[in-house]
Amino acid sequence: MYATQTDFVGRSPVAAPSRAETFIHAHRFERPTLVLDTEAVAERYAALSSGLGRAAIHYAVKANPAPQIVARLAALGSGFDAASRAEIELCLAQGAAPSAISFGNTVKRAADIAFAHEAGITLFAADAEEEIDKIAEHAPGAQVYIRVLVTATEADWPLSRKFGCAPGKVQPLLARALAAGLRPVGLSFHVGSQTRAARMWLSVLDEVAGVWHAARGAGFDLDLLNIGGGFPAFYGEEVEAPEIYAAQVMRLVTDLFGAVPRVMAEPGRGMVAEAGAIAAEVMLVSRKCDTDAYRWVYLDIGKFSGLAETMDEAIRYQFATDRDHEAMGPCILAGPSCDSADVLYEKRPVLLPLGLKAGDRVIIRNAGAYTSSYASVGFNGFPPLDVVVI
Ligand SMILES: Cc1ncc(COP(=O)(O)O)c(C=O)c1O
Repeated sequence: MYATQTDFVGRSPVAAPSRAETFIHAHRFERPTLVLDTEAVAERYAALSSGLGRAAIHYAVKANPAPQIVARLAALGSGFDAASRAEIELCLAQGAAPSAISFGNTVKRAADIAFAHEAGITLFAADAEEEIDKIAEHAPGAQVYIRVLVTATEADWPLSRKFGCAPGKVQPLLARALAAGLRPVGLSFHVGSQTRAARMWLSVLDEVAGVWHAARGAGFDLDLLNIGGGFPAFYGEEVEAPEIYAAQVMRLVTDLFGAVPRVMAEPGRGMVAEAGAIAAEVMLVSRKCDTDAYRWVYLDIGKFSGLAETMDEAIRYQFATDRDHEAMGPCILAGPSCDSADVLYEKRPVLLPLGLKAGDRVIIRNAGAYTSSYASVGFNGFPPLDVVVI
């Protein structure tokens, strides 16, 4: 029996267990383990492709770099957004063609640009003069797109401030790229990760469309629009189905940009989150005093071993236990490490069974994105999140 929790004030509808969860039920795990279902990734790829239509998918490898996922997506014809040399090597080793890989990090080591160029990668991101100069020197003649800084949206995990240049700097960067012998082909942006509704894209697309039309009006021959990631996963709050969501985003793109020859999208979370579930265990249930309003539930996984996205309680995972048919009550949820920052949910306590005790299994649902790739190598001696691919 499964129940899902959002927080102690509300419960979301009961969802059927995923294949990954069913696998967890049938096995025992010695340590926190992410079970990833490649079939679910393939299904999600099909749904996103169908909704995105003419836009090419470049899976954001950072969301989950499991080689089996990369191999499966490569076989399905996906492209890849790589953040580093290691991710490029991973994609190539798993069968991706160099032409299907873009080097999307705007902060690249010169030697890694040279490596990518040697490997046959021709598409690079930039948002600064120095980066343009590095690309021109180490990947002469390459295509570059300029990442635009956009206003923060309602995304649960905003990405806006660190990356991108102000709209006013786009044309000078395009001109610099041209002068340096590069091919400035387009623009990119990121609407913010876990943008729950397609309508939330409108203001950002409008902003970027203004920059796009101005650059084309100024004579820059742009033909590539990279709409980045942001495609959501289900964490308890309602989200549109991937195909419908992607189709709505593309309708907005067409309305605002017109007939852009090349559109690419970089889903990360939306591709893999729902394909994974984590098998975790309760290590301790306690109260600080007899009158403590909430129990503290300590899991064997925390912020440093896979659940980094609980930072500021931004991503609210759902939990399933074998006791979900029993009486439930709010608790503060924390990780196992000796670090007081390792508290997962305290501002909005989590609803868990009152009978929960040490040794009980807890399944963390829809946890395939930004978990294994965020786990430390062994903070406090706790091992990084184990991964099993089914
Ligand atoms: C350049 C770039 N593209 C795509 C993504 C994936 O975003 P999401 O997981 O929201 O789909 C990220 C995430 O950090 C990113 O930095």
